[in-house]
Amino acid sequence: YEEQKSPDGLAQAFIIGESFIGNDNVCLVLGDNIFYGHGFSGLLHEAIDNLDNNISSIFTYFVNDPQDFGIVEFDDKGHVKSIEEKPDKPKSNFAAVGLYFYTNDVIQISKEVKPSDRGELEITSVNQEYLKLNKLKALLLGRGFAWLDTGTHDSLLEASNFIRTIETRQGLKVSCIEEIAYKYGYINKDILNKIA
Ligand code: G1P
Repeated sequence: YEEQKSPDGLAQAFIIGESFIGNDNVCLVLGDNIFYGHGFSGLLHEAIDNLDNNISSIFTYFVNDPQDFGIVEFDDKGHVKSIEEKPDKPKSNFAAVGLYFYTNDVIQISKEVKPSDRGELEITSVNQEYLKLNKLKALLLGRGFAWLDTGTHDSLLEASNFIRTIETRQGLKVSCIEEIAYKYGYINKDILNKIA
């Protein structure tokens, strides 16, 4: 774990985490974001495949309050046309969610980003740079997905109720790391039973 001592922007993660990233490609996920939806792993794999082709990926989601997010505008062919941070006049309702897959040059790009008016190294500025280089793809989290955040008391309660509703209805856990570790063969049945 590394601490960001003051809120200087999401892109600073790549500067603080430089030695952790090393020569690898990298994924950034905001700790207060929750993603839930069928086929999500497939989309994540698509983002990883894009990295193999030197393309960075962001994810978009239709929202009711586009002024509050990084907003992505698409052209007729579904390619990203523009991306703006919390625009007064949003060009679409598609928000860039807190999940980003970047090629290793994100470290250098983040170092060159100028702080915004709110004094932050904006992740949107990083995305604008990839767009300029023609190396950015936006994958869509369709309306069947839930993208929630938990950064306020109200939104944390809403997210908790959402997860509780699903878990109670199904009797299955949402994003149970022990279950996932077992499925992927990281732990065996004995360990799973012991943890349970
Ligand atoms: C940040 C990003 C914004 C993105 C949002 C997703 O906003 O700057 O582009 O849409 O996360 O949660 P912030 O949390 O800094 O307001």
